[in-house]
Amino acid sequence: MNTKALLKSLTREEKIGQMLQIAPFFFVKHAHVEVAGHLKALNLTKKQIFEAGSVLGIGNGHEMIEVQEAYLKESRHKIPLIFMADIIHGYETIFPVPLGLASSFNPLLASKVARISALEAATSGIHVTFSPMADLSRDPRWGRVVESFGEDPYLNGQFSQAMVLGYQGQNIKDENYLASCVKHYAAYGKSEAGRDYNTVDVSRLSLHYDHMEGYRKAIEAGAKLIMTSFNVLDGIPATVNRYLLKDVLRDLWNFKGVTITDYDSLHQVIAHGVAEDDREAALRGIHAGLDIEMASTCYVNYVSELIDQGLIDEIAIDQACLRILDLKEELGLFDNPFKHAHPERALEVVRSKEHLSESRKIATESIVLLENKGVLPLKKGMKIALVGPYATSRETNGPWSWHGNNALNLNLFEALKEEIEITYMNPSEAIEDYHHEDLLAIQQADLLIFACGESMHESGEAHNRAKISLPRHQEKLYQLFKEHAKKIVTIIFAGRPLTLEPVISSDALMYAWFPGSEGARAISDLLLGQVNPSGKLPMSFPRHEGQIPLYYNHLNTGRPYDETRKNPFTSYYLDVPNTPLYPFGYGLSYTTFELGEPILSKAEMTVDEKIELKVNLKNCGPLRGQEVVQLYIRDHVAWIARPIKELKAFQKVMLEPNEEVTLTFVIQKDMLGYYNQEGKFIIEPGHFDLMIGTDSTRLMKRKITLKKE
Ligand code: NOJ
Repeated sequence: MNTKALLKSLTREEKIGQMLQIAPFFFVKHAHVEVAGHLKALNLTKKQIFEAGSVLGIGNGHEMIEVQEAYLKESRHKIPLIFMADIIHGYETIFPVPLGLASSFNPLLASKVARISALEAATSGIHVTFSPMADLSRDPRWGRVVESFGEDPYLNGQFSQAMVLGYQGQNIKDENYLASCVKHYAAYGKSEAGRDYNTVDVSRLSLHYDHMEGYRKAIEAGAKLIMTSFNVLDGIPATVNRYLLKDVLRDLWNFKGVTITDYDSLHQVIAHGVAEDDREAALRGIHAGLDIEMASTCYVNYVSELIDQGLIDEIAIDQACLRILDLKEELGLFDNPFKHAHPERALEVVRSKEHLSESRKIATESIVLLENKGVLPLKKGMKIALVGPYATSRETNGPWSWHGNNALNLNLFEALKEEIEITYMNPSEAIEDYHHEDLLAIQQADLLIFACGESMHESGEAHNRAKISLPRHQEKLYQLFKEHAKKIVTIIFAGRPLTLEPVISSDALMYAWFPGSEGARAISDLLLGQVNPSGKLPMSFPRHEGQIPLYYNHLNTGRPYDETRKNPFTSYYLDVPNTPLYPFGYGLSYTTFELGEPILSKAEMTVDEKIELKVNLKNCGPLRGQEVVQLYIRDHVAWIARPIKELKAFQKVMLEPNEEVTLTFVIQKDMLGYYNQEGKFIIEPGHFDLMIGTDSTRLMKRKITLKKE
């Protein structure tokens, strides 16, 4: 399709129509409702509806075909609708939540998740997914940390990129791939006090240095769309922020794709207090360079009038509309408006055995073993008791899994029973439900598994918590069990880091996040030692909410904490240590790995040279397993203050007992520089520490120098 010629043939209203996204029920009354909210209240004329450019959410392939047919029948130019949806960690086969996925420290798995999600979703009639969420997240009170890849810019960048590659493949025209819309641009994860939609006030330096990396990497990987965030940045809502949408996105990053608002966020600039009404909101949106308006009607009702008044140049509309038409062309929709939707094939591929088995494997890599005092893996013939709400809960999918059906999941009781005998089971989290005879049964067991944590409705969008302890009475319940059980293994389901001090006396502590459709089986695989845990934390776990935000890659300050406390005027708390309870990059295995002394090929380099760091890793324990070797770098002196350490590379390797490998890390200029306030990459010569280890705290150090030219 010659999209430029097509554009010329459109009326102004038709062009503006392309910039509107509404829900499927506007076209077909009985269609599936994903996120309806106030959408229902929009007063659109039939003409406006049948000029709209895209659709938010759809039930399945049949429905997509029905809506597309209804639309094309009415529309003058027969320009197909694009169907966009939130396919976040799976379509019907649900994978671990993104924060869990990041714990795998294995971006290839993220690509696989995205690939399978794309296959299932595309076959079911979806063209664009609103994923990945690349918002750097350092505040576990914020409900949406569950959708993020955690606190580290590098890890976030690696996972965001991997997801885009998995969704989009080589060419989004190919069957069974999706276009990826990275979100929420920008710095949404910095919402003050961890309250969703709240104010963001971030320096330009931290914006470019910390927060942009995820979006930047997704765009470098070819993401076709980007979604604006709900927050303000420098006082201007991201949705109408010209600095973000034009100066950075188009001019600095050369992004050619489509920009889209978040749900109703153009209209919400009125509540932000930067526009009087929808008309002014439309004006600001166009001036900023915003293409698609999701779920509000500022553009469709006012842009034409604003052009007539000379306040908007119609060229801006042409450009936005052309970008949307080009996306339709790239997706192949002009050739076949129904192209991906195959309701018959969907029956075979969606939630297939093969996909579920991948989900199970991936879940085992996303679960993190935090404590193990010799009790895991479970030994054959042990008498096991199982208690707590997740003993029988099937809600392991976690938030943002619209098409996933928890009812189809096994629960932990069922999954364990496939393998071992459970001598006592009680899913209650009410202390009154544990009577004398229950406690006796717990006492008689060799080991008690306590499966607890947040419900899947306690994290996700708008689900923030000021207190991030185990919810309800679970801490008290733990104490009761601790008094009676011989050994206790605590398994925690959650969408965020929780404050775990009250349960670290567990004989083993396993952090399952929300592990997806096959989560219960994955946990059983790990408990029984059929798979060796290898997950590592992508966020620091605070001891107390008062430490938040707590992240490992902080600045040194002028008065860094001095453990000897000889100088009392340093940066610390009187009542809580500075350190996390569990650090970034931490996670245990059933085997023991030994990391040898790192050896450098040389100690000095110029910007065009490279240094090789070689290190031996040996599996010294009895079981095969995977370890993640992490490389951190510190730049001691630069024009700006630099973090005390930053992750720059990692390698995950599987080793048999007694097997040893030599890992090579190549140190090059992109690991030594930083993004400045203008978003430019700067490299300064000087001294750097290279630190290598298996978490962010136990590290071996080597020094290198980047020479002046
Ligand atoms: C609101 C959320 O913030 C965003 O992540 C999502 O993609 C849209 N709604 C569409 O459902």
